[in-house]
Amino acid sequence: MTATETPFEPRIVAFCCRHCAYAAADLAGTSRLAYPPALKIVELPCTGRVDVLELLRTFEDGVDGLLVAGCLPGRCHYLAGNLHARQRVDYARRWLEDIGLEGERLRMINLSAAMGAQFAELATEMAETIKDLGPSPLGTRQTAGQGLSIGSTPLPGEAVHDHGDGR
Ligand code: FES
Repeated sequence: MTATETPFEPRIVAFCCRHCAYAAADLAGTSRLAYPPALKIVELPCTGRVDVLELLRTFEDGVDGLLVAGCLPGRCHYLAGNLHARQRVDYARRWLEDIGLEGERLRMINLSAAMGAQFAELATEMAETIKDLGPSPLGTRQTAGQGLSIGSTPLPGEAVHDHGDGR
């Protein structure tokens, strides 16, 4: 790195359930606990709201890492939203790995609203992992015009239709 280059600060999005992780992030903030400044928090009514395509599109938008933070097992206000979210995260991780992106860039965590310190710790740990991995090639593609692409790659099990005329 030259003197003029700025250090890599990963862009991380955290999809946080409002009943637990969002409140935990808020608690971390009001307790003045440090967590990565580039972490963008998106409040959700429940992590069961996220679907695989939304996870993948977030990467296609150029984030370097994505955290899905839901209620503790057995504490989801919609019973199984956090369990469904974990299945989708696991599926999306496999898909990311299939196209050559590190699965560690996507992670699900479970917290209670009182776990502000754990939120700060896990978010910082995630940022360190992403720093070690470096910028997402999907993010650099947007500026360099190259790299991996999600849009043109079928999802596992997705039928590929080739009409021979570009449709
Ligand atoms: Fe929090 Fe479902 S209500 S994960």
